[in-house]
Formats: sequence, structure tokens, C-alpha cells
Amino acid sequence: MNESVRPGRVARLALLLAFALAACRADPGPPPLEGATLGGAFTLTDQNGRRVTDRSFAGKYRLVYFGYASCPDVCPVDLQMIGAGLRRFEADDAARAARVQPIFISVDPARDTPAALRTYVAQFHPRLVGLTGSPEEIARVARAYGISYRIEEPVEGGDPNAYLVDHVRMAVLYDPDGKPVAIIPHDQGPQGVAEELERWVR
Ligand code: NI
Repeated sequence: MNESVRPGRVARLALLLAFALAACRADPGPPPLEGATLGGAFTLTDQNGRRVTDRSFAGKYRLVYFGYASCPDVCPVDLQMIGAGLRRFEADDAARAARVQPIFISVDPARDTPAALRTYVAQFHPRLVGLTGSPEEIARVARAYGISYRIEEPVEGGDPNAYLVDHVRMAVLYDPDGKPVAIIPHDQGPQGVAEELERWVR
């Protein structure tokens, strides 16, 4: 007889699995980004034209992604995964999910006005905040948050306002003090995003 189908063994395995899951919930170990020099102070402008700083989000986990509203394919896909993952977490545990503030920071300050960001962020999650600023403010915050980007030249003779921006594609979770916690795997779909948020958000 196949040992794996014996009821006693199945029960023991189920117990072990339950214990492993409980242990996993209780202590996921140190955050992968603990001690990393990522993040810090900023002053930017939100999608409603208000000046905000990192302290405006004190007490909340911040899920930060950099990109730009005219990005043809990368940003919309990533933001959809992030928004859907957060909604999944909200469905599982509304109280903990409410502690997560999703934030989109523009690397295209010339085109991403507050008004442009307002329509853009609303497509992905009702609580997604869009931040923009002067080119200097954006350069500073991107450097502090480990995001490199490069504004490409528009096609010669074409629309000078049509250009691409190369940028690092990374979603990072910061804790309520603004310390980096973990990279959120938006490439693993909504479930991957939700699981990683559940792991770290208290
Ligand atoms: Ni993009």
C-alpha cells in the first residue's frame, strides 16, 4: 500500500503544514531590504496639486513605484498588477491593507502635471497617489529611492513632446517609518503582490 495515503500520515502532514503556515505568519524573518540605503525625505506635488512630503505618509506602509503616465507598456502593466494585488490584500484583510499607501512617482516631470497624474492614477487603484515635481526634485527622490531613469530624445523632425523615458522597474515596500522592507514582485501577478504584502504588513 502506498504510504502517502494512510490517514494517520495525512493528518500528521496537515498538522505540520498548518504549523508551518502559522510559523510563517508569526515570523517571516528579517525584511530582505533591512538596512538598505533606500528611501528618505522628499517634498513633491500630488495629483491634486498639493505639496506633500514623506512625512505626509508617516504611520503608513508605502508601496512606491516610479514611472510615467505616457509609458506605452511597462508602467500600465506593472501598475495594474500592483493595484490588483492590493485589492486582493484588501479583500483578505481590509484592516492591514488600509495601512498600505500605494504611491506612483513620475520620472517625467515635464509632461506629468498634477492634472495628468490625476486621471492616470485613478485607473489603477482608488487610493493610488501620484507625485510629481520639478526636474531637480524628481532627480533627487529617484536617486534616494534607487531608481535610475533617462529621458530619451524625441524622434528628429517628429513631435517634440513624444519621447520615451527609460526607467528602472521596481516596486518597493517601505515601513511606517519610511525604512525599506522588501521588493514587491509585481512580475508575479496580483497573487504575488498580495502574498508579499501579507508577509510584511502588520
Ligand atoms: Ni514605464
